Amino acid sequence: MKTILAKADEASVKKAAGLLQAGEIVAIPTETVYGIAASAFNGAAVKKIFEAKGRPQDNPLIVHIDRLEMLEGLVSGVPQGARALAEAFWPGPLTIIMPRGPKVADEVCAGLDTVAIRMPSHPVARAVIAASGLPLAAPSANRSGGPSPTIAQDVMADMDGRLPLILDGGACGVGVESTVVTLAGEQPVLLRPGFVTKEQLEGVLGSEVLLAGAVLHKLKEGEAARSPGMKYKHYAPKAHVTILRGDFAAYCKYVCGHAGPGVWALCFDGEGGQLPVPSVCYGAKEDDAAQARELFSALRRLDEKGAQRVYARCPHVGGVGLAVYNRLVRAAAFEVVEL
Ligand code: TXA
Ligand code: MG
Repeated sequence: MKTILAKADEASVKKAAGLLQAGEIVAIPTETVYGIAASAFNGAAVKKIFEAKGRPQDNPLIVHIDRLEMLEGLVSGVPQGARALAEAFWPGPLTIIMPRGPKVADEVCAGLDTVAIRMPSHPVARAVIAASGLPLAAPSANRSGGPSPTIAQDVMADMDGRLPLILDGGACGVGVESTVVTLAGEQPVLLRPGFVTKEQLEGVLGSEVLLAGAVLHKLKEGEAARSPGMKYKHYAPKAHVTILRGDFAAYCKYVCGHAGPGVWALCFDGEGGQLPVPSVCYGAKEDDAAQARELFSALRRLDEKGAQRVYARCPHVGGVGLAVYNRLVRAAAFEVVEL
């Protein structure tokens, strides 16, 4: 299959909408990361997403809508807290798990009785939903297991020949996938941290939001994942990544002791010059939003440069930094050295 990379404009958005209506899949930009979209009503189309990504069938997808009326038939009810969260954070990088409605294709929910819903704020994502008139099931547009793409060229690198069209809407502003929260249980649970923080959710809900165990730790053998996506190896570049937790002086000392061919540093802006190995940086030390925006791209650049062993600076684990750490610790297969 020939894959066309097209600048997102009126004509290409119209073309994308036509493909989606015809049961095809299309890569689109969102404010978080690029996604591969298909009609959430069309099981055969959704199957093509799983094939293109090489994604396990039991990992459900997020359905993207552009207005609340689209919830009709997608969900069987909107929990009270969900309404407050939607009002506060939609359109934007928050996904809410809701009871599943009858119109969602089985393939979207992977057998669960819930469905993940999000209303993106990116103008191109919204234009494609509006032009197609369809709710769009869309996971991140990477090959399963790799870092999510935040520019169209990274989608092309993973998906060339696997789908007909990629819409180029420039670099994604958020850079990590949406926050995922479930209100299905007795207490709200944060399943995946993102740009909308735990503290912000608690502020709107007026109650504590629990952190699912798998956000910070590896699932133990036999432990059930609250969100199926958490049991898979994720966001991993080809290089072997280790997080070093400690101050910059201790980091420098450790990296000096481990320098050698193929060794790279993943550090904060301005730090590279003081290191004995080449480096890629991912935002300023105090700027967790910049770290979120740059992390996945930095991991991909390290692979392109042929890095074999990467020592990563540890972000501050709070606020948006919780999302940064959650992705980085998976890229590192949970290998963290305390300095
Ligand atoms: O920002 C995003 O959310 C991006 C863009 C494209 O919108 N999409 C995205 O999708 O990250 P994906 O498929 O890569 O991640 C979806 C996550 C997975 O961890 C999945 O297990 C979880 O959401 N999920 C989906 N449906 C669920 C459900 N019904 N219950 C619990 N977790 C669910
Ligand atoms: Mg993903």
